[in-house]
Amino acid sequence: MKILVINGPNINLLGLREPAIYGNKDYAELLAFIEAAAVDAGVEVECFQSNHEGAIVDAIQSAYGHFDGIVINPAAYTHTSIAILDALKGVGIRAVEVHLSDINSRDDFRRVSYPSMACETTFAGFGFEGYAMAIRHLSK
Ligand code: DQA
Repeated sequence: MKILVINGPNINLLGLREPAIYGNKDYAELLAFIEAAAVDAGVEVECFQSNHEGAIVDAIQSAYGHFDGIVINPAAYTHTSIAILDALKGVGIRAVEVHLSDINSRDDFRRVSYPSMACETTFAGFGFEGYAMAIRHLSK
C-alpha cells in the first residue's frame, strides 16, 4: 500500500512557528517520524509539502492511480479551500485529515474544515502522533 502525506502552508516552519502550539520539533523531524510510522504499519509513504493551494490540488490529482491513500494536513487551507475538498472528492482516494493542534479548541474560524468532508476521519490535537494514527487507519 502506498500513502501520500500532504502538508500545507507553514508546516515547513515547524520548530520555529508558535512552538507553544506546534512544538519544538522541525519539519525534518516530522518527516523522519512519518517514515518510521510507515515502516511500523508496513506501508510505503511519500511526503509532499507546499505553501501553495494549487500545488496541493495538483499533488492530489497526480496521486490518482499511484497512491492508495492520502494523509493530509491542509494547514490554513483547511478553513478556506473548497478546491482541495473538490480535488479529494474528484480522485476518490481514501483520505484522512490530520492537525497537530486541536482545531476545535482554538479560534472559531478553525472549527470549519472543508477537506474533512472528503476524509474518512480526522486526528487533531495529537501532535506528530496524529500522522501515525492516520497511517494506521489507512493501513487497516
Ligand atoms: C494546523 C491547524 C490550522 O488551523 C493552522 O492554520 C495550521 C496548522 C495544525 O496542524 O494544527 O497551519 O493545520
